[in-house]
Amino acid sequence: MSLISQEDINKVRNSANIVDVIGNYISLTPKGKNFFAVCPFHEDHNPSMSVSPDKQIYRCFVCGNTGNVFTFVEKFLGISFAEAVFMVAKACGVTLSSEQTLKKEDKFQKEHELMALVLKIYQNNLHAYEGEKALAYLQNRGLLDDTIKEFEIGLSLNKNILHDLLKEKEYGDKMLEDLGLINCNEKEFLDVFRNRILFPIHDLNGYVVGFTGRCYLTDIVPKYLNTKETYLFKKGKVLFNYHRARDAIRLNKTLILVEGNMDAIRLSSVGIKNVVALMGTSLTKEQIEALKKLRVHLILMLDNDDAGESATYSIGNLLEEQSFSFSVVRLNGAKDPDEYVVQFGKEAMMNNLEKSFSFMDFKLNYLKKNKNLDEISDLSEYIKSVIANLKKSQDNVLKEVTLQKLVKDYNISYDVLREQLGTEEKLEKMEKKPLTKNNPRINGYDKLCETILFYMMNGGDFIRLFQNHIGVFPEQKHRLIANEILYYYEKYKTICLADFITYIETNDLKDKILEIISREEGVELNNEVMLECIKLFDLKVKERKISEIKEKIKNEFDVYKKMELTKKLTELKKEVF
Ligand code: UTP
Ligand code: MN
Repeated sequence: MSLISQEDINKVRNSANIVDVIGNYISLTPKGKNFFAVCPFHEDHNPSMSVSPDKQIYRCFVCGNTGNVFTFVEKFLGISFAEAVFMVAKACGVTLSSEQTLKKEDKFQKEHELMALVLKIYQNNLHAYEGEKALAYLQNRGLLDDTIKEFEIGLSLNKNILHDLLKEKEYGDKMLEDLGLINCNEKEFLDVFRNRILFPIHDLNGYVVGFTGRCYLTDIVPKYLNTKETYLFKKGKVLFNYHRARDAIRLNKTLILVEGNMDAIRLSSVGIKNVVALMGTSLTKEQIEALKKLRVHLILMLDNDDAGESATYSIGNLLEEQSFSFSVVRLNGAKDPDEYVVQFGKEAMMNNLEKSFSFMDFKLNYLKKNKNLDEISDLSEYIKSVIANLKKSQDNVLKEVTLQKLVKDYNISYDVLREQLGTEEKLEKMEKKPLTKNNPRINGYDKLCETILFYMMNGGDFIRLFQNHIGVFPEQKHRLIANEILYYYEKYKTICLADFITYIETNDLKDKILEIISREEGVELNNEVMLECIKLFDLKVKERKISEIKEKIKNEFDVYKKMELTKKLTELKKEVF
């Protein structure tokens, strides 16, 4: 984002009409002042998304997704913010002054260059005389030269070479060490990877940021050694093969998620290219975001062992929470997808993929594990756990079908099951944060501050009212957003929601701001209401102070201090009542 100036961004935003741009991707129906569409960001069946030509923002009142023209294009196409700005600029014929610089500028150019060079060195090793055994190992596993080339597989030798090979270049030992390539001690420079077959790991943009190295001469621990966490390589943010698989995933409208890099390589080598590997059994928030951007159906196909099974359960739950469309494959007769393809071939694998089943089906089996359903206590525990799992689902048909299955399989009364589910759902609703204006997780005070912040994002008049009557928020979290707004206004002398959205770069802050907009959008924007909010804010601040002082009085032992506090309390109370 920093590569395109805010002026340019605003220029494009002002030339684009959000209704035209969104209308290029999904169909919009006019209704009143706004346009409506079936929301593409969740399983929507009704037109829940409104697009406002006045405000130049869109918002879904079911899933809460909101933003301006760039946010929409970014999320809809799964592209970066900068790419979205360029697309919109092109669509409405705006030339950007910073256009030339975008592609060339790379904050980590040197680092990327170095990693690419090191990769070349490793690749050469594999094809040198000393790489004979490693190459034989790979060939033994049935990997063809083309696959080895495609996945840029390399080799680290049984000696320290990187420092000497690179000392003529201007990278410096520190960069090599910081990127996890060498370790330095007083006497020598040690290569981190020794005697390992190396698979480069790329970030989501396709830059090599690290390696995972497999032992191949003897079995040692760890089997795979990974680059340590560096400022380029964050294990939780990358997914093996993501950058290569992107096009195939879009084409197939399906993504296959596997555990190991060898699984991804094997599937890809037989032509199943829409595959991405976790490099283990955990899935982070960042990885989920990256997968979500692709907006396709996901098939979860983890290893055929206990760890793979538990991971299917936990990752499945995460995907379900995030409303992913996904299904599950469990393989039989081989340890993992790699070995399965070797043993049974591509067709058998395709068969499994075609017959992928719902997560609920998986859970019906999984929850039975280690239970003897002939025993009353186990059976009742099982039924309860199935129902507890059903309560989260939005899919009424799935609920009904599952209940019917339980009735049939275990001869239990339908009414009893329904009632149990009803109770669980009620509890779930109470815990879950609804997307309504009365979100119970936000207390009245926070909500009020956020309403005031929303006003401030909508115009200079509101900012001035804030400055004259409030000045600063007592709490950091509100101050943070207020500061951004004030800074923006100071700099551009004007502010509107649609432009402000693209100005915020920090993800967490951006999410928070979008959440506020999503909740507040539609409130009446005028000075009187803002003044009402300010009055209420003032009152709430005093009320909070009162409870604070009361608490202090309770805990104060010094009589004089106690008296002083009580005096303060009386004064405050006078102001409030
Ligand atoms: P697996 O043990 O399933 O590896 O671990 P694999 O893909 O089947 O590898 P091969 O077939 O034995 O060569 C799955 C993933 O977990 C990570 C790796 O990314 C691996 O691909 N892993 C595994 C490690 O990081 N370190 C280890 O020691 C083992
Ligand atoms: Mn394997």
